[in-house]
Amino acid sequence: MAAPTIVILTGAGISRESGLHTFRDPDGIWARHRIEDVATPEAFARDPALVQGFYNARRAALRDPAIRPNAAHEALAELDWRWPGDLLLVTQNVDDLHDRAGSRRLVHMHGELAKARCLRCGAVGPWEGDLSPETPCPACGAAGGMRPHVVWFGELPLEMERIEAALDDCGLFVSIGTSGAVYPAAGFVREVRHRAETLELNLEPSEGSHLFGEARHGPATVLVPAFVREVLARWG
Ligand code: APR
Repeated sequence: MAAPTIVILTGAGISRESGLHTFRDPDGIWARHRIEDVATPEAFARDPALVQGFYNARRAALRDPAIRPNAAHEALAELDWRWPGDLLLVTQNVDDLHDRAGSRRLVHMHGELAKARCLRCGAVGPWEGDLSPETPCPACGAAGGMRPHVVWFGELPLEMERIEAALDDCGLFVSIGTSGAVYPAAGFVREVRHRAETLELNLEPSEGSHLFGEARHGPATVLVPAFVREVLARWG
């Protein structure tokens, strides 16, 4: 049988063992910050310095040398290099750990912390340091319009056409380290479950766990390398 198209959805849980916080766990980001204060277009319009400070801290945390891709990111990169069929890794994560591990067929549907966007000219580019309301745009020179290139609540996720095309074609759908609380990502399993194998790999059952054909529960650094070995032995 030909190797099926694989679509893999990842969330904050895959980066937890690299030292980054998830959102909805008891020690998660949304236990310490209110979404409506830091992660909506209205919050940015009201208090851009506060919103930028929140993302500046998260961007700075990514540059900590202790924060590195873990065995789960590395296993998915190996699957990307070795998989003979189509594959798309769709991450909700704004960190760059999949990129650093070497995944190439990758979509950051919620944007990237390591990029900034200018609301004046639309330019998107790499961004390593802090942003402030005074930061000028490197492309057009205007100040006052630079924002993190992340998708806030109430905004449309990125590259949805490419994601939907992969889901249409998908024979195996795997969801890793995501609580299934945020749409549209949480709805992908419903789109594919009647024609594709579906597998959840998560520390605990997610909100949509019952929608998957199979669910395995445990840490991503254990479950993901085992899954990759298995799928490569089956079709690779
Ligand atoms: N291995 C596997 N799964 C884990 C691990 C781990 N080591 N640690 C935690 N998890 C699981 C948790 O049990 C939880 O189900 O990861 C999931 C993380 O869920 P959330 O914190 O809700 O993160 P995520 O699903 O990525 O959130 C989706 O919400 O606010 C946002 O935009 C943000 O992209 C994010 C979106």
